[in-house]
Amino acid sequence: MQPTIKTERLILREILPEDEATMFEMDSDPEVHKYLGNDPVKDMERIRNAIQFIRKQYSENGIGRWAVIKKDTNEFIGWCGLKYFTETINNHIHIYDLGYRFSKKHWGKGYATEAARACMDYGLNKMNLKEIYAMTDSRNLNSNKVLKKLGFRFIEKFDYDGDESDWFKIEQTK
Ligand SMILES: CC(C)(COP(=O)(O)OP(=O)(O)OC[C@H]1O[C@@H](n2cnc3c(N)ncnc32)[C@H](O)[C@@H]1OP(=O)(O)O)[C@@H](O)C(=O)NCCC(=O)NCCS
Repeated sequence: MQPTIKTERLILREILPEDEATMFEMDSDPEVHKYLGNDPVKDMERIRNAIQFIRKQYSENGIGRWAVIKKDTNEFIGWCGLKYFTETINNHIHIYDLGYRFSKKHWGKGYATEAARACMDYGLNKMNLKEIYAMTDSRNLNSNKVLKKLGFRFIEKFDYDGDESDWFKIEQTK
C-alpha cells in the first residue's frame, strides 16, 4: 500500500480517481508538457487511464507516484515519486525512477524539491534501494536543477524518443 508522507508544507498521498479534474487542468497546459513530448492532454479519458495505471502500480509493484497536496489549502498541486520500470529505458530494466510534475501556478516555490526529497528519502531509507535513477529532457533546466539540488549525479546523455535527455543516478551511501 502506498504510504502517506508529510513534509513541512506538503502531504504526499496515493493518487485517487477524484484527482482527475485538477490533474486534467495541469496536464492540459502546453507549458507543463513542453519537455514531455509536447502532447498536452485534451480528453479526460487519458487522465482516467493515467490514474488507473498509477494505482495498478501501487498493487503490482508496491510503489508508484504520489499525489502532492498543499497542507494549508488542501489542493492537489502535482505528483511526485518513484516508479518501478518494468520496460527498458536507456538500456536499463527493473529500476526505480524518480519523477515529478506540478501545475505551473505552483512552480518556483520549492515544492518539487521538497516533495522529491521526501520520495528519495523514502526510497533510500525505507525501501533500502541501492540506487534510484532519474531522467529529464536536456533542455528542461528546472528539472535538472531539482535533481542536482537533491544530489543526483549526471551519468550520460541518451536519446529518448528523439529528444536529447540526461540520465541521472543517486546511490545508497549507508
Ligand atoms: C520540473 C518542475 C517540477 C520543477 O519545478 P520548480 O518549480 O522549478 O521546482 P521547485 O518547486 O523545487 O522550485 C524551485 C525554485 O523555487 C524557488 N523557491 C522559492 N521559495 C522556495 C522555498 N521556500 N524553498 C525552496 N525553494 C524555493 C527556488 O529558489 C527555485 O528557484 P530557482 O530554480 O530559480 O532557483 C516543473 O518545472 C514542472 O512541473 N515541469 C513540468 C513537468 C516536467 O517537466 N517534469 C519533469 C520531467 S523530467
